[in-house]
Amino acid sequence: MRKIVLTALAVAAACFAGSLPASSSEAIKPPSQSWGFGGIFGTFDRAALQRGFHVYKDVCAACHSMNLLAYRNLRALGFSEDEVKGIAAEYEVTDGPNDEGNMFQRAGRPSDRFKAPFANEKAARAANNGAFPPDLSLMIKARPSGANYVHALLTGYEPPPPSVKLMEGMNYNKFFPGGQIAMAPPLNADAVTFGDGTPATVAQMSKDVVTFLAWAAEPELEVRKQMGVKVILFLIVLTIMLYAAKRRTWAGVH
Ligand code: HEC
Repeated sequence: MRKIVLTALAVAAACFAGSLPASSSEAIKPPSQSWGFGGIFGTFDRAALQRGFHVYKDVCAACHSMNLLAYRNLRALGFSEDEVKGIAAEYEVTDGPNDEGNMFQRAGRPSDRFKAPFANEKAARAANNGAFPPDLSLMIKARPSGANYVHALLTGYEPPPPSVKLMEGMNYNKFFPGGQIAMAPPLNADAVTFGDGTPATVAQMSKDVVTFLAWAAEPELEVRKQMGVKVILFLIVLTIMLYAAKRRTWAGVH
């Protein structure tokens, strides 16, 4: 009996130890930023969303797919129908088979999904030193403190401290678990030129692309938050009415 209890204790201790952060190789916590879409009244800034899409399209899309988005979803960013048609038409997509049984290329349409940069995972790895650039559709939801983390990652590249020996093809980034990431710093100042004249600093491009990725991961955020506020208001009014009704019902009882 004693033996069983001791073994159980040992197993429990081992499990507990495993859940503790593993000393120095663990990534550090990303600092919190103020996001327009945070808080109970949060909404997405349309100008930031459009700039963020611009950054994704011109920079990140060279390596990262966003398979869950179709070009027509971009209407929600404030692009007109014609603008969306224009964006879709910039891409050549494979369609078919036609009557002869062959696949063929045609210009993209608003109903097409975002074109992926690589045909499959093996091609993506082959072009990226063996590392796989993950799909970004749900990235903000897929990582703890998603928006803050991705912003910290994009802006957090530094020369490695002397204690760290970088493996070949890796880059030092203290926010990435393990500190070594296969993605080279993707953002350089003025990598894009924003149509609205906003200066394209690394911090600005990062904030905008993260806003765009947050929208992609949760396009219904605004509706959800508005509904929450309405429900709270409704409950407050209902409480006041029930209280008044209760006082009236019991008014004559002494
Ligand atoms: C030249 C190719 C390339 C470009 C351009 C690029 N990435 Fe990456 N990215 C990668 C690769 C490769 C990985 C996988 C890294 C690894 O696992 O070590 C990655 C990983 C990531 C991750 C996941 C990190 C994690 O926690 O797993 C995020 C988020 C990311 N990239 C965002 C972006 C954004 C946003 C842009 C555009 C501003 C961008 N990337 C541009 C190649 C690229």
